[in-house]
Amino acid sequence: MSNYFHIVSALCRQIVKEGASNAALTQIERLQEAMKDDNLNKEANLLTRLIKKAHEESSLEPSRVQLSRANILSGQTLTPNTKPPSDKETGAPLCEIFFSDQTSHSVIPVLDDGLEKAVEGLISEWNNLPELQKIGVAPALTSLFFGAPGTGKTKLAYYIAKRLNLPLVVARLDGLVSSFLGTSARNITNLFDFASRYQCILLLDEFDAVAKARDDKQEVGEIKRIVNTLLQCLDSRSLNGITIAITNHETLLDPAVWRRFNARIFVPRPNAISRKKILEQYLPPLQINNIEMDFLIWMTDTYTGSDLENMSNTLKRHSIIHSKEQDNFIETIKAFLLVSSTDNTNNSRELVLGEEEGLAKALHESSFSQKNLAVLFNKHPSTISRWFAELRNKA
Ligand SMILES: Nc1ncnc2c1ncn2[C@@H]1O[C@H](COP(=O)(O)OP(=O)(O)O)[C@@H](O)[C@H]1O
Ligand SMILES: [Mg+2]
Repeated sequence: MSNYFHIVSALCRQIVKEGASNAALTQIERLQEAMKDDNLNKEANLLTRLIKKAHEESSLEPSRVQLSRANILSGQTLTPNTKPPSDKETGAPLCEIFFSDQTSHSVIPVLDDGLEKAVEGLISEWNNLPELQKIGVAPALTSLFFGAPGTGKTKLAYYIAKRLNLPLVVARLDGLVSSFLGTSARNITNLFDFASRYQCILLLDEFDAVAKARDDKQEVGEIKRIVNTLLQCLDSRSLNGITIAITNHETLLDPAVWRRFNARIFVPRPNAISRKKILEQYLPPLQINNIEMDFLIWMTDTYTGSDLENMSNTLKRHSIIHSKEQDNFIETIKAFLLVSSTDNTNNSRELVLGEEEGLAKALHESSFSQKNLAVLFNKHPSTISRWFAELRNKA
């Protein structure tokens, strides 16, 4: 390579001089990384300077950004009769297609404030592609959602598709990589070709599957090929269609893959306000009073949306089986905790399953009044004051 480097570098310089597109710059960055990996530091440094120069120039002259978004706006229309691409040998489909009028995803995901702003930002960018195009601004067409399992990332992608009124082409990379080893690279190319032919959002779920598979020493060559194919496909797709990738394990992703995404959105575990909204979504028809709601919000710190949905379902089942008279709220919650294996890292589980006095003290410290505790524990207020007096004496 070093024999030809003067030609390659001249080529790169020329590209930058003519106003490099994002895709071209990404390729130059890849070259720079490869040179660094091979300890060709002098050459790598030259490219680093070139990339820096290109970024400075493009920030000075936004109109130079080359846009070719014809496909997003004028691609063919997907219909329920469109056949998804399939593996040549097994005939198994490589993706599923969901249309935005399918009702199975009608519940709106509850988002924390910051996340909601980020998502609304994306939606309005994607809704205004022609306007952005007119003023020469490149919208962020590839985005990565990352965060703990069960925080609602997949649900969010379906919701965005619904909001944009675009069909969602859903591919799970774990399936693509594991079941078609040997033909995965070709399948990935076919999948991207398909997505780019139609007006749609491409959803790559379980995106880290590729990264995980890379640890499998027996398949090194094949996996390298898959990663390279995926990077190339992402690069060309980044100019002609919306792509959302989802991962629960962002730390497994190769930095080169990570940088491919224009937008990287962290989906956190819901805060107290969001937990309340999620519970209000899933608890009905079960009714609980405000104090019980505050207790659940306190207890479920660190729970994900999926944990909250599961808890709501358990409580609903419990309320049907046990009549209201013999029902004691705290006992119901204990019954739930005993059968749930939520790996929440807060200590509410031990407190709720432990002595009532200890739980009451912890709740009091987090702003539950003695009056409210009496309601929650279904005790006379004097009992609660006695508990606190005893705890004070012990201390
Ligand atoms: N923020 C949320 N708002 C409402 N429901 C949620 C939320 N997060 C998770 N859920 C519920 O949990 C289920 C699993 O979420 P999912 O989107 O599959 O999570 P992830 O893809 O992050 O693992 C969803 O179908 C939804 O019912
Ligand atoms: Mg998911």
